Amino acid sequence: VDSSFVDYRPPITVVVGHVDVGKTLLLDKIRGTFVAYREPGMITQHIGLSFIPWNAVERIADPLLTKFRLKGKVWIKGFLMVDTPGHAAFSNLRRRGGSVADLAVLVIDITRGFEEQTYESLTLIRSRNIPFVVAANKLDRIYGWEPHENAPFLDSYEKQREDVQGRVEEAIARIIEEFNKLGMDADRYDRVRDFNTQVPIVPTSAVTGEGLADLLVVLAGLSQRFSRDKLRVTYGPGKGVVMEIREEKGWGVTADVVLYDGVIRKGDLIVTAGLEGPVSTKVKMLVMPKPLDEMRDPEDRYMFMDEVKAAAGVKIIADGLDQVVPGAPVFVVPQEASLDEYVKLVREEVSEVKIETDRDGVVAKADTLGTLEAMVIYLRSQGIPVRKADVGNVSRRDVVDASIVRRKNPLYGVVLAFNVNVPHDVEVEAMQYGVKIFRNEILYRLVEEFTQWYKEQKT
Ligand code: GTP
Ligand code: MG
Repeated sequence: VDSSFVDYRPPITVVVGHVDVGKTLLLDKIRGTFVAYREPGMITQHIGLSFIPWNAVERIADPLLTKFRLKGKVWIKGFLMVDTPGHAAFSNLRRRGGSVADLAVLVIDITRGFEEQTYESLTLIRSRNIPFVVAANKLDRIYGWEPHENAPFLDSYEKQREDVQGRVEEAIARIIEEFNKLGMDADRYDRVRDFNTQVPIVPTSAVTGEGLADLLVVLAGLSQRFSRDKLRVTYGPGKGVVMEIREEKGWGVTADVVLYDGVIRKGDLIVTAGLEGPVSTKVKMLVMPKPLDEMRDPEDRYMFMDEVKAAAGVKIIADGLDQVVPGAPVFVVPQEASLDEYVKLVREEVSEVKIETDRDGVVAKADTLGTLEAMVIYLRSQGIPVRKADVGNVSRRDVVDASIVRRKNPLYGVVLAFNVNVPHDVEVEAMQYGVKIFRNEILYRLVEEFTQWYKEQKT
């Protein structure tokens, strides 16, 4: 039947970077620019995603496509862009063995260079092995820059005074140097000779629209080259991941899901993961945001869908979603299949992230399945053994577990709490047991605090 039909879906593209670098404005500008050029209804809104069709990109990228001899060679149909307010959203775009994100845009303020969360974003991108481009944003802030509304960077750059060009080069050189310090190679995108080994840097301005064409052309190039297999979809049973669990007036607890493969329909039986184990439920309603121009009032935000095809962001309304953890997989159970099989699949997938062993290692706690997975991957990359990894606030059991490790190996008998709380009574108990709890909202800082302490204790 039609489940064997294969197509290419638009790449899911995450926009990450330090606060205030212009991630949201960049997406707004891309949307706005294309809305300005558009046929009505061309830009579709999703839950947390927005779709930029390639034919809209072509309008502003035409001179570049000619220059790079790419005209007619782009087969991707557009991009599904995800704005990530912090690392949690990015981490929750997880799937078994990787990420739902096909591409990433790492936004850096060209006048400021690398900042704290630039490193954090980079760690996440690299741990998931996602092809990415750097948008060196706020180009218009370079002293003396003469803007050319929506022009490709290369065209606008050529028209700048020599001293201004010099300042742009210096700023780019500083970013390249930071990558070099991390053992990576980078260059201005038009000077990149090998996209396998060099990170392309595209100067952009979310205010003037300069460089947006270049950015999207580079993204198209990267996805065609590196994501082809990941972009193949069947129109079989849907597969997705929970981005957010949210209470909505009149609907109860709902799940915002990114569907990356297959189809989901109203009435489908789905299996996902809760704090206490797999959750199976029937889809009561599927909703997607209306295009902005069709919205009459805020109450009238949604369209009710009978079916949704990958890739898409969709809100699922169903019973029993209150236990579900962000980052959890969502599988549609086909009619002929057994529910048990899918429950087992979810259980297996979750048990790869939630770890329970009796080895000597740290206890890791995080707020979602996605952040927990990112944490475990990072701890492993730093050679730190993990005894137990779980979702939720630090509990008395965690402290007891750490204290057991502590008796044999005092340096690993600790709790690392990433983005979660430590209730007061647990804190008191930890003190009684002499178990140290490290807490931080930034992953590499959390691990750094621990390793610092570890070194001090060792000497
Ligand atoms: P968070 O979501 O808080 O992490 O920030 P963000 O990265 O989404 O940044 P946002 O788009 O909210 O922009 C932050 C500020 O920088 C706003 O005041 C923007 O107007 C400004 N800004 C963003 N991009 C540009 C740019 O290209 N040029 C200039 N001059 N200002 C910009
Ligand atoms: Mg933002």
